Order: sequence, then C-alpha cells, then structure tokens
Amino acid sequence: MNIDGQAALVTGGASGLGEATARELARLGAKVAVLDVNLPLAEKVAADILNGIAKKTDTLYTPFFWRYIMMIIVLLPTFIFKRVRL
Ligand SMILES: NC(=O)c1ccc[n+]([C@@H]2O[C@H](COP(=O)([O-])OP(=O)(O)OC[C@H]3O[C@@H](n4cnc5c(N)ncnc54)[C@H](O)[C@@H]3O)[C@@H](O)[C@H]2O)c1
Repeated sequence: MNIDGQAALVTGGASGLGEATARELARLGAKVAVLDVNLPLAEKVAADILNGIAKKTDTLYTPFFWRYIMMIIVLLPTFIFKRVRL
C-alpha cells in the first residue's frame, strides 16, 4: 500500500497508539491530521511531526531528554539490559 501523499485522519492521535500511528503515517509520507479531545497534546504531536520533517529525521525525541536516556539504554551491555525491567 502506498501511503506517500495520502491524506490521513487519526482520531485519538495525541497519545498512545494514535500518536504512534500519526507519527508513522507522517514518516511514510502521508498528510496527517491529528484529532483528539486533548487539543494541546494533539498540537504538540503535530508540532513534533513538523519539527521532524523540518530536521529530515525519522527519530525525534520529545521531550528532548529522552535522547540521553535512550543513549544510556543503548550503551548498556546486553547482560545488564536483560536484567533491567524497563
Ligand atoms: N495500548 C494498548 O496496548 C491497547 C491494547 C488493546 C486495546 N487498546 C485500546 O486502544 C485504544 C487506545 O489506547 P491507547 O493506549 O493508545 O490510549 P491513550 O489513552 O494513550 O490514547 C487515547 C487517546 O484518545 C483520545 N480520545 C479519547 N476520547 C476521544 C474522543 N472522543 N475523540 C478524540 N480523541 C479521543 C485521548 O485524549 C487520548 O489522547 C483504547 O481504546 C484502548 O483500550 C489499547
């Protein structure tokens, strides 16, 4: 299925599964409308998507500190990672 250029409406797009769907559809090139009863959070997700497009990156950490948390997690040796409950 070719998503690129398609229009998508994502209800409940401000968090959870809807947010992940909105971000993935945008990554695949769809024009996404993020709909949610929580308007401030929906606007934040939409702004994040636009920010990601502007920076030409698939991965955008919001809030920013997740970049550093993920960096630490990625650097953990496997035997320690397997023991940690994340
Ligand atoms: N997360 C899971 O593993 C999982 C598994 C199975 C089913 N589900 C179901 O999938 C749905 C979404 O789950 P989630 O974890 O992403 O939840 P979530 O609470 O993270 O996200 C739901 C979003 O929908 C929005 N919303 C609620 N009512 C709305 C309305 N009337 N119009 C527009 N937006 C509205 C909320 O503001 C919220 O942003 C839920 O019904 C949940 O029960 C979730």
